[in-house]
Amino acid sequence: MAERHLIYGAKGWIAGLLKELLEQEGKEVRGSTVRLENREEILKELDEYKPTRVYNCAGVTGRPNVDWCEDNKEATIRSNVIGTLNLADCCFLRGIHMTNYATGCIYQYDDAHPMKGKTFTEEDEPNFGGSYYSYTKAMVEKMIKQYSNVLTLRLRMPVSDDLNPRNFVTKITKYERVVDIPNSNTILYELLPASVKMADAKLTGVYNFTNPGAISHNEVLAIYKKHVDPSFSWKNFSLEEQSKVIKAGRSNCELDTTKLITALEKLGVKVNEIHEAYDKCFQRMAANLKANKPMSF
Ligand SMILES: NC(=O)c1ccc[n+]([C@@H]2O[C@H](COP(=O)([O-])OP(=O)(O)OC[C@H]3O[C@@H](n4cnc5c(N)ncnc54)[C@H](OP(=O)(O)O)[C@@H]3O)[C@@H](O)[C@H]2O)c1
Repeated sequence: MAERHLIYGAKGWIAGLLKELLEQEGKEVRGSTVRLENREEILKELDEYKPTRVYNCAGVTGRPNVDWCEDNKEATIRSNVIGTLNLADCCFLRGIHMTNYATGCIYQYDDAHPMKGKTFTEEDEPNFGGSYYSYTKAMVEKMIKQYSNVLTLRLRMPVSDDLNPRNFVTKITKYERVVDIPNSNTILYELLPASVKMADAKLTGVYNFTNPGAISHNEVLAIYKKHVDPSFSWKNFSLEEQSKVIKAGRSNCELDTTKLITALEKLGVKVNEIHEAYDKCFQRMAANLKANKPMSF
């Protein structure tokens, strides 16, 4: 049977990159803008297009940022909980593998997992509900992981090789002040192709989906300054000062990547440690900016 790939949330940032990647790999792919909570339309689309792989890149993240979810709880539930479960359920009923692009922003450093100490594994209970966005994502993960057809990938602070406004780097270069805390980050150039390999292998369950290690905001910006913009400068502020300018809390944590790296090794995929990954990413970004083009794989 011919492989057919169907991407939900097709107009979004990660969906666009994934579609381009799959097309470059010569795969048959379609983007869907059907709403996740519309069960009838989803079943109709699955029955008509007959995909062999479904990718869920749809979700409410809030505009201009996750603070939006604090004031729009029903809309957040409809997309991130009801919608995500609905798509997983429809795929389950039709026997289709679904890759769910989720988030690792469900943890925060605590006494048992201090900075530069023990990292969070896939088995750890989420301990960050400081934003409604994260709360809904942690809640849906608990249910969706019971579905035997679903691969859940926990991204954190995704980074592209260009200055797309959704890129974590673009965001922090535009802030007046930034905190300086080590975090796990997802370099998309390396990890999106890895996600396709994992989907092709029909892996299921939950995976922390970041490059190994943690990197602080100042370290990121120093590498950015080195490769992309030598004139760039920035100012820091404390977490306490940051809390005065945001509505919802923000997650800061380091995820354990042992499960991911072990799985990827079996698939012949290598992923760089986060500092090395950033160094390579910013070199590609500098070339892309010079050529005035968005990232490509
Ligand atoms: N970007 C990040 O920092 C980040 C970090 C970790 C995880 N993630 C996760 O990765 C996924 C994709 O993120 P992204 O950055 O690509 O977000 P994005 O650019 O905002 O794209 C999300 C897309 O999902 C669509 N959507 C929202 N609710 C939907 C629904 N109920 N049914 C169908 N489509 C719906 C949106 O369409 P409309 O605008 O028309 O509603 C939008 O096109 C999200 O689930 C997000 O939580 C993102």
